[in-house]
Amino acid sequence: MIGPPGAGKGTQAKELARLLELVHISTGDLFRDNIRAGSALGKRVEAVLASGALVPDELTIELVRERLRAPDCVRGAILDGFPRTLPQAEALSGLLAEAGDKISLAPYIKVSDQILVERLTGRRTDRRTGRIYHVKYNPPPEGADLEQRPDDAEHTVRRRIAEYYANTAPLLEYYRKAGVLREFDGELAIADVLQLIVAAARELRPA
Ligand code: AP5
Repeated sequence: MIGPPGAGKGTQAKELARLLELVHISTGDLFRDNIRAGSALGKRVEAVLASGALVPDELTIELVRERLRAPDCVRGAILDGFPRTLPQAEALSGLLAEAGDKISLAPYIKVSDQILVERLTGRRTDRRTGRIYHVKYNPPPEGADLEQRPDDAEHTVRRRIAEYYANTAPLLEYYRKAGVLREFDGELAIADVLQLIVAAARELRPA
């Protein structure tokens, strides 16, 4: 899943994973889990995430390499927030090629910058279930145990958007050339975006 911060990658990836029975791998979630657990990796990346910068490629690639080796990835996986730089994209292509595999679809969720800031500052996540909500666009149910991500403060959101344009946007051309990029209008309602991505995924692999 490619798109700027707040495009809806996590929202869509969780539902897609459930519907297509694939594993959802979010590098952001993996980093946050490590920070919460106080692991050595978590300690190394905590300040990076808080600043809105990107974690160094070597660390990120190693984390994904390990995760993709797990048996639950055999049927495939939905990668959310990875790759995010050209070196990461090249490393991923290499990893998959070693296993005789390749990326089948790179869904690009397109959303304009003004909307991203409002989405991220209004985002809330349920600590217990990991479900993603928005105070206005996807209100949480009563009783949800909500938290707000520290990097959703407005100045950090702007830094993350700048990182996206500098480092991640070039991947659109990379995957366009590979013939796997598909663009989706991320300003449609959540359910409509999902329906379009599911249809594109099912064209590749009928249910
Ligand atoms: P990460 O966790 O990946 O954050 P991100 O890419 O900035 O993306 P977000 O999770 O903020 O947004 P999203 O697109 O998933 O949107 P969501 O579905 O939540 O990364 C965090 C940090 O980790 C990075 O800054 C970096 O430091 C590090 N990192 C991670 N991966 C890395 C990598 N590969 N390399 C280096 N560093 C890495 O939706 C947002 C809000 O909008 C929600 O409230 C949702 O309810 C709402 N919403 C969603 N869709 C819609 C819609 N269609 N209409 C209305 N509202 C909607």
